[in-house]
Amino acid sequence: MPREIITLQVGQCGNQIGIEFWKQLIKEHGINNEGILEEFALQGDDRKDVFFYQADDEHYIPRALLIDMEPRVINYIQTSQFSTLFNPENIFISKDGGGAGNNWACGYSQGERYQEELMEMIDREADGSDSLEGFLMLHSIAGGTGSGSGSYILERLNDRFPKKIIQTYSVFPNQNETSDVVVQPYNSLLTLRRLAQNADAVVVLDNTALNRIAVDRLKIPIPTVSQTNSLVAMVMAASTTTLRYPGYMNNDLVSILAGLVPTPRCHFLMTGYTPLTIDRHISSVRKTTVLDVMRRLLQTKNIMVSTSTKNGSYISILNIIQGDVDATQIHKSLQRIRERKLASFIEWGPTSIQVALSKKSPYIETSHKVSGLMLANHTSIHSLFDRILKQYHKLRNRNAFLDQYKKEPMFKDSLDEFDESKECLESLISEYKAAESKNYLDWGNDDNMRIEEQHEGVQQLTKKEEFA
Ligand code: GTP
Repeated sequence: MPREIITLQVGQCGNQIGIEFWKQLIKEHGINNEGILEEFALQGDDRKDVFFYQADDEHYIPRALLIDMEPRVINYIQTSQFSTLFNPENIFISKDGGGAGNNWACGYSQGERYQEELMEMIDREADGSDSLEGFLMLHSIAGGTGSGSGSYILERLNDRFPKKIIQTYSVFPNQNETSDVVVQPYNSLLTLRRLAQNADAVVVLDNTALNRIAVDRLKIPIPTVSQTNSLVAMVMAASTTTLRYPGYMNNDLVSILAGLVPTPRCHFLMTGYTPLTIDRHISSVRKTTVLDVMRRLLQTKNIMVSTSTKNGSYISILNIIQGDVDATQIHKSLQRIRERKLASFIEWGPTSIQVALSKKSPYIETSHKVSGLMLANHTSIHSLFDRILKQYHKLRNRNAFLDQYKKEPMFKDSLDEFDESKECLESLISEYKAAESKNYLDWGNDDNMRIEEQHEGVQQLTKKEEFA
């Protein structure tokens, strides 16, 4: 029985990384740009039905909804070589067409305004699945649509599908680009509250780190957005391989997340991938044994989040290893990593790296014997949130740029939403810090946690308990 997954791509960034993801997926499954299965792929034993369904004429259609409040990116997709890949009924462009102006509140209001159309699309797609497992949302947290409309959609998804998994791939803004959106700390803070309360897992894709990796590891002096998006697509495709080429473990989202997210709120995940390749740029990796790959995945310079894993501890690690590998090599590598103490784990839970061996697409040539993706839950992720909180305080202390927010219903009479989101983020930071201590499991009993539970998080915790 397929465990179908519906992908929602929201806003410019969501749709841009989304199209790269689908490009990669169709290549891996031997599907052409029009959705038709290539002759050489007719006998494949992969599971295409998790991410695609077949139309009456048998061509494959992504289970994807393309949502934006301005038409530019979706129009581009519709006039590109992928113009017939997507179901036109699954495309939503707001009638205003003006976007959300990098304003979370405007994006949220538009989500609310168009809720009927959006939920109808989601329901139709959900009804078309036999055994829906959940949703993936792709978006950025710093603009207006992906962050604001994305937040609204996350809340509705959680209400409407309380038992389904909601995972996001969330792009965090580049800290070194001063020209990026000035109000990004406001938008990021407000989105993070929804990611904390309404998602089961958030894969953090950090533009600062993606850029650094493209420059330092791949020697691309000025990486383009399309080059960093290739990195994102690589990570997204690798993180879904066990679902698409199932083995006997980790072949649905629930089992992947159960190991990675032992306590419900600490569900922000980092990724690392090796060896990296974009276009003709290849990281200077010459030898790829299992041990080399697993060792490299633990190096901070390969991790796609701008925090240092030298501080703090791992809560969990899942390595998805692809290639020419047998189980003895994995055991030996794990033993060596343990002996060398290459990964420092928390003291209140199981402390080992989980490994999933996964098949590689037979239709894509690669010069490397082994490649690997790391999905990791590490306490140092809180430093990313600390940074956003600090930037938020800088703006808020001056009451800067609030007028645009006050025009929207949610902020018309009060700015409480900002204060509540700030408290939520502070509490998340405290929880990650607490997770570094031996007594973390008692932390859930203190007042801090109880206040949080009175918020919408209660429903979220109940769902998590089912798979934890
Ligand atoms: P509005 O433009 O306000 O309607 O919202 P939006 O959600 O469409 O905005 P957008 O997705 O452009 O969000 C802005 C943030 O996303 C900035 O931090 C950008 O650097 C980042 N971003 C935009 N496009 C991409 C992309 O294709 N890839 C990556 N990695 N980041 C992107």
